[in-house]
Amino acid sequence: MKNLETLHWVGGVDGHLRLIDQTLLPVEFTQIDCRDMESIWKAIKRLRVRGAPAIGIAAAYGVCIGLQTVSGQDEAALFRRLDEVTDYLATCRPTAVNLSWALQRMKNRALELRGTPTADIAEALLAEARAIHEEDRQMCRAIGHHGAELLADGQGVLTHCNAGGLATADYGTALAVIFAAVESGKRLHVYVDETRPLLQGARLTAWELQQRGIDATLICDSMAAVVMRQRRVQAVITGADRIAANGDVANKIGTYGLAVLAAAHNIPFYVAAPTSTFDLSLAGGDEIPIEQRDPREITHGFGRQTAPEGIDVYNPAFDVTPAERLTAIVCEQDIIRPVTRERIAEVVGIRGSGLGIRGSGNELSANSPSARAPSPEPPF
Ligand code: MRU
Repeated sequence: MKNLETLHWVGGVDGHLRLIDQTLLPVEFTQIDCRDMESIWKAIKRLRVRGAPAIGIAAAYGVCIGLQTVSGQDEAALFRRLDEVTDYLATCRPTAVNLSWALQRMKNRALELRGTPTADIAEALLAEARAIHEEDRQMCRAIGHHGAELLADGQGVLTHCNAGGLATADYGTALAVIFAAVESGKRLHVYVDETRPLLQGARLTAWELQQRGIDATLICDSMAAVVMRQRRVQAVITGADRIAANGDVANKIGTYGLAVLAAAHNIPFYVAAPTSTFDLSLAGGDEIPIEQRDPREITHGFGRQTAPEGIDVYNPAFDVTPAERLTAIVCEQDIIRPVTRERIAEVVGIRGSGLGIRGSGNELSANSPSARAPSPEPPF
């Protein structure tokens, strides 16, 4: 099996970020190096690195790279640049709260160190980014450990988008539950939604499952209903990009439809996510910002025109599944069941991203004159 290192830091404080270019998978396995914050912004925006936890980790390393331009300068210059870098990186994708969570955590660490030599602050920030990375690795393993009990030997399991090792430091969230169940000896068959329009299921999840030798069948998104009706699956499990305090879950577009279908067929619907994906500052899912993406992802997917020129297009990248549709949320601490505000507060407590982060997670960038987002380019 290929070493699935989604992203890693190369070198010391003057080093750079190396990541798998996920837009090229499964045909090409290529790693790219990001040496300035613009290339990290672009890599996230264009989904070269994607998935809520991986976006957060990339952004944390992005802060380290952004600060390299003020190496050797005084503290005022460092903090000015820190604001500029975090504001800028916060603009690349709005829905996954892990992005602003990681940026805020980096900022908080720098503020704690005010008054110490700037070289030490830069070192400490690299250590913080590495800690975010390592903690995510451990959270994924813990999610797998807790969630494995939800799946029984011989079951079919449906998943959507990619919530695997490629979306995290390693091992994944929804796929971690599947991996851990299989590692514990259960035989599972995974149905993989291709996940229109950018095919994260077909390109990434199907690839990851193959790499691990797990039985899998790829389906078009529109086939999920019949797969459920034919009792081919006994559970659905997905990841999450942001979870509000009441348990409403934003995840890849199509997730809400699957949850409705699962309820109609009496199939449990599980979400797996680390506590860094909870945003307890938001009362409910209506407050979660939903990323709208380039219409060409739908009309010209992967370079081929498949719709008439000029047709109006709606392309939200995520939807929100109401808490009452969820059977349980698996996080690294425990299984949250039932999914209620009270149970979330009990399990997630102060680790929720919303605490210590301003508002929606977009606010790092909202009104900042220093946010210099490059003009959008269609991915793929
Ligand atoms: O647009 P993407 O590919 O970043 O969307 C990813 C998802 O929706 C994942 O399900 C989510 O981020 C969880 S990843 C562990």
